[in-house]
Amino acid sequence: MPETAVPTFPLSRASGCPFDPPPRYATLREEEPVSPIRLWNGQVAWLLTRYADQRAVLADPRFSADVTRPGHPAQSAGVQARRAPDRLPFIAQDDPEHNHQRRMFTAHFTVRRVAAMKPRIQEIIDRLLDRMEAAGPPADLVSAFALPMPSLVISELLGVPHRDHGLFQRAARTLVTLASTAEESRAAAGELADYLDHLITVKEREPADDLLSSLVAERVRTGELGREYLVENAILLLSAGHETTANMTALGTLALLHHPEQLAVVRDSDDPARVANAVEELLRYLTITHSGRRRVATEDVEIAGTVIRAGEGVVLANDAGNRDGTVFPDPDRLDIDRPEVRRHIAFGHGSHQCLGQNLARAELQLAYPALLRRFPGLRTTVPDGELRFKEDMLVYGVHELPVAW
Ligand code: HEM
Repeated sequence: MPETAVPTFPLSRASGCPFDPPPRYATLREEEPVSPIRLWNGQVAWLLTRYADQRAVLADPRFSADVTRPGHPAQSAGVQARRAPDRLPFIAQDDPEHNHQRRMFTAHFTVRRVAAMKPRIQEIIDRLLDRMEAAGPPADLVSAFALPMPSLVISELLGVPHRDHGLFQRAARTLVTLASTAEESRAAAGELADYLDHLITVKEREPADDLLSSLVAERVRTGELGREYLVENAILLLSAGHETTANMTALGTLALLHHPEQLAVVRDSDDPARVANAVEELLRYLTITHSGRRRVATEDVEIAGTVIRAGEGVVLANDAGNRDGTVFPDPDRLDIDRPEVRRHIAFGHGSHQCLGQNLARAELQLAYPALLRRFPGLRTTVPDGELRFKEDMLVYGVHELPVAW
């Protein structure tokens, strides 16, 4: 692999538009779709920027998601520090073990299960908006709505008391902060693991009607799932379940505020299919998982004319793939009526495709219209230049979003 003049990942976003991925992606997609990048620890990996190549790799078993394999490109020192081979969550394992564990969770996230949760999700949304309205403007949309909404939903689903949200939100935040040190990440993960381990003990004694209780009864007691794996997967669900949707809620609202005509459609449309399409387009346009999908080759594989050797890491920039003009014409434009937008890879692709996508869709489809209807005059109170965008986190978004109405 070439070693000279290799750019450092992440590449700079400085393009003037906070919703656009690094401008260099466009040139790379055209000229060097498989290009070397240097990671935080000096490791050189391959950056893939084309949609078709990314889908091919994500569906190819010769690329491993096992984070303990030599060459797997970790996102940060903190992420690397958490690589314990004896208790990996299924997102970090390969089939057949990945599939064996994932299957135990899928039944809880089907379209039908999520449809049954919708009235409760709507109630949570309405209650948060009531509170925000009663407190009056101004408000920080992130802390008043975007973060507590998915956090309450996933806590209820798992059976995690939301009164403990201070603990799990703080720890989850440490885990997604790129600058967290190995010690900080280990401590945060340890705190979460102790907390969930204790909670599982409570569920063993007094089962309730929630996901953790049912997994304890049906999978842990039967010996099918080790208790330590339930703890790790619960951490995965708890953090993936609120960080991502929270960022989509706040950043998506900001993107709509920049496109008032499209915002009016999301607010006023009584066609759920049109709102659903708008959500897909926001997912594509914003692709908040900007640190890329990470894999390591287990054999030599040729992609777009470049041979990736066994043991070399790849970073699949799905934010670049979702702006690939050969798949999405005029890709840098937000168009909530864009046809065939569900082909986007904001939820990944292949066997690791997001387990919570039905839930995330339901939350966003309910949240944007409810928020915009409640506050038809919603506006930000500071210019974009003063907002703190999450370039320092594994998942993109805004740290705060000061609004009034
Ligand atoms: C996997 C994005 C919401 C749970 C993934 C992956 C992406 C993603 C890109 C693929 C990871 C890979 O290939 O390495 C998102 C986005 C969300 C969201 C953009 C919200 C807008 C959620 C929610 C949950 C969740 C609400 C919780 C229930 C998971 C899990 C995996 C995953 C468990 C691992 C799946 C596997 O490895 O088989 N997500 N996600 N996600 N997501 Fe999400």
